[in-house]
Amino acid sequence: MKAAAGINSKQLKKDFPILNEKIRGKDLVYLDNTATSQLPKSVINAVVEYQQKYNANVHRGVYYLSEESTFRYENAREAVAKFLNAKEAEEIVFTRNTTEAINLVAYAYGEKFIQEGDTIVCTEMEHHSNFVPWQIVQLRKKANLVFIPILDDGTLDLDFLNTLDKVDFVAVAHVSNVLGTINPVREIIEWAHQKGAKVLLDGAQAGGHMTVDVQELDVDFYTLSGHKMLAPTGIGALYGKRELLEAMDPYQTGGEMISEVDMKGTTWNEIPFKFEAGTPNFTASGGFMAAIEYLKNLGMEAIFEHDQEMIHYAMDKMKEIDGLTMYGPPADSRAGLVAFTMENIHPHDIAAILDRGGVAIRAGHHCAQPLHKRFDLIATARASSYIYNSTEDIDQFIEGLKAVNKIFRK
Ligand SMILES: Cc1ncc(COP(=O)(O)O)c(C=O)c1O
Repeated sequence: MKAAAGINSKQLKKDFPILNEKIRGKDLVYLDNTATSQLPKSVINAVVEYQQKYNANVHRGVYYLSEESTFRYENAREAVAKFLNAKEAEEIVFTRNTTEAINLVAYAYGEKFIQEGDTIVCTEMEHHSNFVPWQIVQLRKKANLVFIPILDDGTLDLDFLNTLDKVDFVAVAHVSNVLGTINPVREIIEWAHQKGAKVLLDGAQAGGHMTVDVQELDVDFYTLSGHKMLAPTGIGALYGKRELLEAMDPYQTGGEMISEVDMKGTTWNEIPFKFEAGTPNFTASGGFMAAIEYLKNLGMEAIFEHDQEMIHYAMDKMKEIDGLTMYGPPADSRAGLVAFTMENIHPHDIAAILDRGGVAIRAGHHCAQPLHKRFDLIATARASSYIYNSTEDIDQFIEGLKAVNKIFRK
């Protein structure tokens, strides 16, 4: 289905079986897409089809089923490469998710190329999975780890970059999972490359929501989580420039990733297999490929525009709710998500009351404690939309917020 003039979210909803379920007798309004997205029938069917027709281990068998399975798994890799506009499929390593992709780089690149006294640059807004792995590298390699501060408006304080002399590695979220900020990644990459540093972009919140062209960005590493872009859980991807992946040593060792094993020693397979130790999640790769197909049919620009429409609509309505504070930049420079608090009401209470009305949102620190500390917060509530959410969903969410105020501000 091609979306010629924007996205018809009400029509799309029919493709997603879970969205047609009743929750506590109410229509489900799913607004926790930052955590994970829902699966269309085509993705569910692709997974079932894989299991029913092609289930065999990849790269190992010379029999028909194994060849079919390998063919499909490698086709999925090709699809991810095209989706990100990577030069070649070998630059795509399948991982479980973004967390594993970042750990892979932190370990395999960090171990070999980060030296004592080197400087790694992160930001204060990172998800823990783009934070903790670099703290480990800092400890292991006695490196410096510095954080680009967040300004009050939820954007990065790029003036901080002028205070840095020597920079060796930069790891930054493309889109913040709390503030929704779309970071000026082109500018950051250009600056980092001028300093001779390599750059990893955490694309968990961007990959399924906007066009990402790794060649145009000239980024060194980019990560995706399949389950945040309509695919099943258990599959994600790391893009890495060929020369970097080739220069890195393996992250995990075992089957698949070897070339020759001998009692005296072992040599590594070629990329990307060098980084895919053990049996990969080939079943989910079928779902990942179907998810990419679904997104491409809609068009990434149309998806981005739909996110914009939803966030403008939601933030305008939220402004009218008593005692509500939103965090992050204006709707124009953010993705389709918003974190907020309501005066004297715990975010968990907000989420629990919304749930009674069938509205699913997230409450907590969203794996971004440093960011919350920066704003003097312990927790926030967060609503996040995707292609299947409509303005009616936002209206139901707003009704839920009014109910929260009614209960707590009698
Ligand atoms: C910005 C960001 N990075 C990384 C992650 C981790 O993703 P995953 O749990 O799929 O590894 C998330 C998850 O919410 C995220 O929002």
